[in-house]
Amino acid sequence: MQLNQASQAQLSQWQSELTAEYQALQQQHLNLDLTRGKPSTEQLSLSDALDGILNGNYTTADGTDARNYGGIDGIAEAKALGANILQVNADEILVGGNSSLTLMHQTLTMAYLFGFNDPASAWKNETAPKFLCPVPGYDRHFSICEQLGIEMITVPMTATGPDMDQVEAMIKADSSIKGMWCVPKYSNPTGVTYSDETVDRIAQLGKIASGNFRVMWDNAYAVHGLTDTPQAMASIMAACRKHNTEDSVIQFASTSKITHAGSGIAFMASAPSNLKAFKAFLGIGTIGPDKVNQLRHMKLIPNMDALQSHMAKHTAIIKPRFDSVLRNLDAAFSDSDLGAWEKPEGGYFISFDAQSGCAQRIVQLAAEAGVKLTPAGATYPYSNDPEDRNIRIAPTVPTVEQVETAMQVFIVCVKLASVEAKLAA
Ligand SMILES: Cc1ncc(COP(=O)(O)O)c(C=O)c1O
Repeated sequence: MQLNQASQAQLSQWQSELTAEYQALQQQHLNLDLTRGKPSTEQLSLSDALDGILNGNYTTADGTDARNYGGIDGIAEAKALGANILQVNADEILVGGNSSLTLMHQTLTMAYLFGFNDPASAWKNETAPKFLCPVPGYDRHFSICEQLGIEMITVPMTATGPDMDQVEAMIKADSSIKGMWCVPKYSNPTGVTYSDETVDRIAQLGKIASGNFRVMWDNAYAVHGLTDTPQAMASIMAACRKHNTEDSVIQFASTSKITHAGSGIAFMASAPSNLKAFKAFLGIGTIGPDKVNQLRHMKLIPNMDALQSHMAKHTAIIKPRFDSVLRNLDAAFSDSDLGAWEKPEGGYFISFDAQSGCAQRIVQLAAEAGVKLTPAGATYPYSNDPEDRNIRIAPTVPTVEQVETAMQVFIVCVKLASVEAKLAA
């Protein structure tokens, strides 16, 4: 289907054929959901051994009773795993509760209200503190900035990560830019892994930015490959050490998409000076994290080898769902200009760019045919996709058969919305 070369008569004919196809799909009364990037039930079940795994033994390797208060930065064995995942030293890691998003929210709240160094370094002292947001990106990052009143400035994602020429130019020109969001590996939603050059340039931002600048390096998909040969990404901490900017980057990860999404453990890594300030802040609100859960996790996944074989089981479950989405998109659109997408090698999403002005209509049509998609615009700050193009597809929860059906609906909706838009142009 090539819309640009089509006559009005051809477009009208396509519209009536597609409308008939769409109405037939509506008659199926589907109820399918491709919205949030959650693990499927089968994936969650891979970690059910967590329940009861301690068998009455609550003592950590260094003799601590995990049931008691204390240990604000987590138990040593969980720190060792987190340090391995994020490639940092043992004194550069903190292990928290069930959500890395909570750690990110707390980090920005602290930086905004109290500052990393002293009250004078608090971002609230700026007239208009700003954050760089590579787009498309993760909606919940944007919600944190929005809640704190931090203005968001978008930067386009490229095949190697954020457009670094733009990032550097903006930071040089505006000292009120206080940070930047990054999902560096199998990015949400594009699936892009940052190139070595991008990692190195991000590690140098601390040299050109004003003081108090922090990169929020959310490595949520660090070990979430979809192939037998996971992509390698350069270590941001190693690059920071080279450039003497260790305190300019704060890393995050969690086991949410490794074990049980709602009851995993979360990691934060940075220079000891940043962690010291953060622990002082954290200590006002808690006496310590759930160390029993950390210990449970370390029994299930004691080291990187165990982690890798566990992740291979996830891959086996979700890869067929991704394959289904990609196969359907290829069959429908590879010879047309109706959509563009990346083939991710990991992560939880496929990012689909429709023709300009069509995303909202596609999502609406799909919803009215029983297929829920993430709201159009959600991958942009303030839910504002200026071109109304990007749709995030999250295929992990439905079964392969359900993904197949949902994609049939999606494809008809994309075609119909595109033809409608062309006819109205
Ligand atoms: C990029 C990214 N960061 C963080 C999270 C949430 O992580 P957690 O469950 O550790 O809070 C998600 C979940 O979808 C995500 O996609």
